[in-house]
Amino acid sequence: MSTKRPRIEGFAIVSLEGMIAGSDSSFPEVLKIPADQEFYQASLDRASAVANGRHSAEGGPKEAARRRILLTRRVQRLMVDPNNPKAVLWNPATAPFDEAWQRLGVDDGMLAVVGGTDVFGLFLSIGYDAFFLTRAQASVPRGRPVFPGVGKGTTPEDVLTQHGLVLRKSRVLDPATGTVLEEWGPKG
Ligand SMILES: NC(=O)c1ccc[n+]([C@@H]2O[C@H](COP(=O)([O-])OP(=O)(O)OC[C@H]3O[C@@H](n4cnc5c(N)ncnc54)[C@H](OP(=O)(O)O)[C@@H]3O)[C@@H](O)[C@H]2O)c1
Repeated sequence: MSTKRPRIEGFAIVSLEGMIAGSDSSFPEVLKIPADQEFYQASLDRASAVANGRHSAEGGPKEAARRRILLTRRVQRLMVDPNNPKAVLWNPATAPFDEAWQRLGVDDGMLAVVGGTDVFGLFLSIGYDAFFLTRAQASVPRGRPVFPGVGKGTTPEDVLTQHGLVLRKSRVLDPATGTVLEEWGPKG
């Protein structure tokens, strides 16, 4: 069976410094913004599958029901997750993305990439059709950045731009906290 490649969309909320998590790799309280959570869960409802690293599943009551590509270096070949028949375990060092997608058996639709750092970074090379970057006006100075290399003077927009993405839209998601949602997409 051959399947079409999906539309690929990324979703992240970042601190002023471009961090998605603190130094202890926990999700910081200051990034828990209800308007963003609402936008995020509604966006995942549009997805036909989710891609995430081992510490970044989206949570919520629908998580278990979603088709999933779980990235892990613990497998040497693509396989259905023995703990979850809806998920495929994928080690990108051993198989290309198209094979992982094919193995999932979902016919096109949208794949939501939800992190963490290395997973967001990997999909910059595979190619995002859209990246939704929520910017919180909150400080998390150190920790896990949204993309490898962010921090020390390199911003998330530097990395998105280096990978051929441009800012398409921007809107205030939550006036009370000054949280802004940016949509980035490929040039042209
Ligand atoms: N603010 C946000 O929008 C946002 C988004 C996502 C996550 N987070 C937070 O960020 C933290 C977790 O992020 P994280 O970056 O530390 O972890 P992560 O990407 O969720 O998980 C790391 C694990 O995923 C697997 N993995 C990641 N990249 C891989 C690759 N290229 N190839 C193969 N396997 C790969 C590895 O699993 P194995 O160890 O099994 O090999 C790795 O140990 C959590 O606190 C989470 O809540 C925040």
